[in-house]
Amino acid sequence: MKRARETTAQAVDTVVVLDYGSQYTQLIARRVRELGAYSVLLPGDATTARIASHAPKAIVLSGGPNSVHAEGAPSVPKEFFEHVEERKIPVLGICYGMQLLVHALGGVVESGGVAEYGRMPVVYQTNGSALYGGKSQMGEKEQVWMSHGDEATKLPAGFACVGKSEGGAVVAVEDAARNLYGLQYHPEVTHSEKGLDTLKRFLFDIAYVKAEWSMANVLDEQIEIVKNAVGPDAHVICALSGGVDSAVAATLVHKAIGDRLHCVFVDNGLLRFKEQERVMEMFKNHLHLPVDCVDHSQQMLTRLAGVTDPEKKRKIIGGEFIECFKNFKGEIEKRTGVRPTFLVQGTLYPDVIESCPPPGSDQKHSHTIKSHHNVGGLPKELGFELVEPLRMLFKDEVRKLGAIMDVPRTFLARHPFPGPGLGVRILGEVTKDNALDILRRVDEVYINTIREFGIYDEIWQAFAVFLPIKSVGVQGDQRSHSHVVALRAITSSDGMTADWYPFTVDFLKTVSTRITNTVKEVNRVCYDVTSKPPATVEWE
Ligand code: XMP
Repeated sequence: MKRARETTAQAVDTVVVLDYGSQYTQLIARRVRELGAYSVLLPGDATTARIASHAPKAIVLSGGPNSVHAEGAPSVPKEFFEHVEERKIPVLGICYGMQLLVHALGGVVESGGVAEYGRMPVVYQTNGSALYGGKSQMGEKEQVWMSHGDEATKLPAGFACVGKSEGGAVVAVEDAARNLYGLQYHPEVTHSEKGLDTLKRFLFDIAYVKAEWSMANVLDEQIEIVKNAVGPDAHVICALSGGVDSAVAATLVHKAIGDRLHCVFVDNGLLRFKEQERVMEMFKNHLHLPVDCVDHSQQMLTRLAGVTDPEKKRKIIGGEFIECFKNFKGEIEKRTGVRPTFLVQGTLYPDVIESCPPPGSDQKHSHTIKSHHNVGGLPKELGFELVEPLRMLFKDEVRKLGAIMDVPRTFLARHPFPGPGLGVRILGEVTKDNALDILRRVDEVYINTIREFGIYDEIWQAFAVFLPIKSVGVQGDQRSHSHVVALRAITSSDGMTADWYPFTVDFLKTVSTRITNTVKEVNRVCYDVTSKPPATVEWE
């Protein structure tokens, strides 16, 4: 499928973040945007020409797991320093990024005697430094989040040490004349108490970046881009999943081209409790989006009958969705006399950036698209041009954009829900033992209890799982042989890694009692205490 157009915000000042593989790299890019400046994440081995094509006002070199001495350790691109010096582009190296600066410019980085990890004070080494706003007093302290094994033992000519750890390691350096700065700690994480202030100073007082990146501007800009890409006559279709991204993307495109946008919501029979009614009501009455609801539940459940293999289930669910979508395309052509040629997709920035692969994975910089998550995605043969108005945005920015367009908060804060729906939360055959109905009721009690305890927003995703086993219990003075459900709740920033959520005992007692009291078919409730890895978020 062709992309309608690369949607970059060329009109605003750009900060390029070069990725050397740290777990915090995306966080740096997000923090820059939270501070009101536009950031672009590029792989650490991007060419100088590629960096230059973004005309950066400032460059940040991220941290990373390597040592500058390791064989094949990533370095700055060729002619990088000539380029930034010529254009007077300020550079901030963070952690590995700082070691790169020191090493590449003739200083010495050595394996430190003692590695330093975690929260600890930086002790200022000067009265006044550009990074610390000219106010630092010799010996004053600031709490930061440190993570290093190697350390700079000799600085390149022109550099001054402006901060040391209590252990004596050099942790903040600057060559203000050449506009080169380095921090051994992570200013982007909240444990570094004044880290954000330091980042702000680098961006606004040192690099003079203008804070012009706002969601209101993005909205206006994207509406224009969509209008121009689609033109005055073409028709556009969009599959709404009931999730935030597709809803926000569709709302934006609707603002741009009005009723030439046609949305479809497929009830695949694997939705949550009353999901079809709730989501359709939101689309039609609140967002005033033109949405067709296609009820495909009967066909889907017929196709899934007797199927227990998880991969087969996913394939069937994905295949049926594509069938529905093709029919919808034909239906729109019949209805309007025009063949729809554009497709809206709620692709986000983390899906398109080339980030550094995990160390030891033997991969080069690669797209982080999760291939198995394309259920609900559409095959190339459908021949659409893509409209992806959220391509440059992080999830929190999508929520802000949605809020500007009056998408209700309850909807924007919804936990993610997978395309194959309850199909991957019922282990074994979906149609057996009234599993769908039981799971829906359990899930509803679980989520309502989470809301009642006021912790919904602390949790990234929570759901119940129907297990393919029965257990012995005592219900109403009688021995029972009934179903077992598992509850899962995780915290995460992107679903790629996750921790299980530490519910209070009070919550666990309440939810377990409520489930077994209201859903008589269940006599046992378990809580999943596994992180990802080694488990995945979904059970299938
Ligand atoms: P896993 O199970 O891979 O899940 O650890 C990570 C995140 O992705 C969601 N997920 C999916 N989303 N189609 C989707 O749209 C899928 O096939 C799919 N499988 C998992 C999952 O809910 C979690 O948020």
